Amino acid sequence: MEIIYNIRKKAAGLGRRIVLPEGAEERTIQAADIIIGEGIAEVILLGSPDRIKAEAARFGLKNIERATIIDPYNIPEEAEKRYVELMVKLRGDKGVTPEVAAKQLQDALYLAAVMVKAGDADGEVAGAINYTGDVLRPALQYVKTAPGISVVSGAFIMRIPDKSFGDEGTMLFADCAVSPDPTAQQLAEIAVSTARTARSLVDLEPRVAMLSFSTHGSAKHPMVDKVVEATRIAREMNPELIIDGEIQADTAIVLKVAELKAPTSPLKGRANIMVFPSLEVGNIAYKLVQRMAHAEAIGPVLQGMAAPINDLSRGCSVDDIVNVVAITACQSKS
Ligand code: ACO
Repeated sequence: MEIIYNIRKKAAGLGRRIVLPEGAEERTIQAADIIIGEGIAEVILLGSPDRIKAEAARFGLKNIERATIIDPYNIPEEAEKRYVELMVKLRGDKGVTPEVAAKQLQDALYLAAVMVKAGDADGEVAGAINYTGDVLRPALQYVKTAPGISVVSGAFIMRIPDKSFGDEGTMLFADCAVSPDPTAQQLAEIAVSTARTARSLVDLEPRVAMLSFSTHGSAKHPMVDKVVEATRIAREMNPELIIDGEIQADTAIVLKVAELKAPTSPLKGRANIMVFPSLEVGNIAYKLVQRMAHAEAIGPVLQGMAAPINDLSRGCSVDDIVNVVAITACQSKS
């Protein structure tokens, strides 16, 4: 709770503009009212203005009057022209003609991604009523990745009740949300992106474990080789980073096991970032820790994108949306 409280407080001083493409959805509109009221961000709602105003009246929301509302079927002419030109420039070689672009802009998820790319919004949050893939695809196509990063991934900030893990119980797990089968290069980028997220969101100095079923050569397998290579690339990308791999999970987080199995490990059994070799492992691991260790799992925080876009769970609450908007505002650089 304290982490989220700090993130909301930090966001409130930034004045970022966050676009919410599911603008007429009832949890989104209630969240928008809180976000505006607490000054967490400026809000751009996409959707039918009549529907949005009717929903706001139904819930007695007053702050919504200060939101910008854009109807994807009636985009201001100057903006639409700019967006179409940008879209054709970025994806003309993939078959995006002015007609295709204009049609795509009627889809609020595309409009939101293009607004972010055009600099008319600092970040986007969606997913209360759309699947992860449908939220991500327009962003992957138009916003693209950050310089030096080719893969988008999703990290969870894990708050583990047993404070002996990570930093006072705080750890980051990745990738738990996006890339099913990363290459060694992509795995290295996931490690570097997660280290950045740790610093920028929770002021944590990263100690990264590149996880495997082997520690320092104890097993031989192409899957192990991938993690060894990823660790080498990550070190090359960021020589200052405290990182070790390939390493088993217990060796990464338990000092006694580390002393026995990896006495030279710079992690010293105190890793605070766990990088999993595939999405299967990452997604299963965070859910097990969440349920069996009663950990709070904040995220997924999407990382590696050129501008922050975050995906909600369809079961999200109003408060979850407010929190993810605050995270998105804090990730934004401009
Ligand atoms: N990073 C960067 N770019 C990517 C990535 C990535 N991880 N994945 C795809 N792209 C790019 C492609 O290169 C392509 O670019 P291009 O069109 O310019 O050539 C574009 O995005 C579209 O790629 P596709 O492969 O056509 O997109 P796809 O339909 O496969 O969707 C997606 C990509 C949505 C990320 C898919 O891999 C996916 O669904 N991943 C799993 C998401 C998921 O279900 N997670 C679990 C649930 S979340 C949870 O439990 C917390």
